[in-house]
Amino acid sequence: MKFLSKTVALCLIAAAGAAAAKDGVTNPVVKERMDLMQTIRVNTGTLGNMASGKEAFDPAAATAAKTALAAAAAEIVVKFQANEDDPVSEGSPKIWEDYAGFTTRAEALVTAAEAVDVASLDGLKAGMGAIGGSCQSCHEVYRVKK
Ligand code: HEC
Repeated sequence: MKFLSKTVALCLIAAAGAAAAKDGVTNPVVKERMDLMQTIRVNTGTLGNMASGKEAFDPAAATAAKTALAAAAAEIVVKFQANEDDPVSEGSPKIWEDYAGFTTRAEALVTAAEAVDVASLDGLKAGMGAIGGSCQSCHEVYRVKK
């Protein structure tokens, strides 16, 4: 039963992720940057679930998620460089009006992801604030629902 409900929950999370914005996205450049954000979301979710106790702390899995998150974070400035739009995009024109500010926020996530100490549960918990804060500080300025 426990296994079953967990599987159902994972399917729901996957479905919610797929429904986020990609349904109907036609511009391949925009789709790529959305996919990158989904990779960031999944790996942040893995770390967050361990930090909150939803999932058992597993240093190897935490290290893998940290590495994937830091690598994806470093890709943000690459994938968002082109000023491309799509009707379902939530990207604000401010990204390209103030690319330096956008870059600063992308680098803050790289730094936070690289800094999180995944060798212990306490270290992971201590590092989650900076990771979550960096998502928010970029989204509140550069991600707008149209
Ligand atoms: C430097 C800026 C920046 C940072 C840092 C950032 N994001 Fe984003 N994120 C964006 C922008 C811009 C969009 C909208 C992209 C679009 O729709 O074109 C977005 C979209 C998303 C989406 C929706 C993707 C989709 O399928 O439509 C998710 C999920 C997401 N971000 C998660 C995160 C998480 C989790 C973090 C932190 C761990 C994070 N982001 C950090 C800028 C950022």
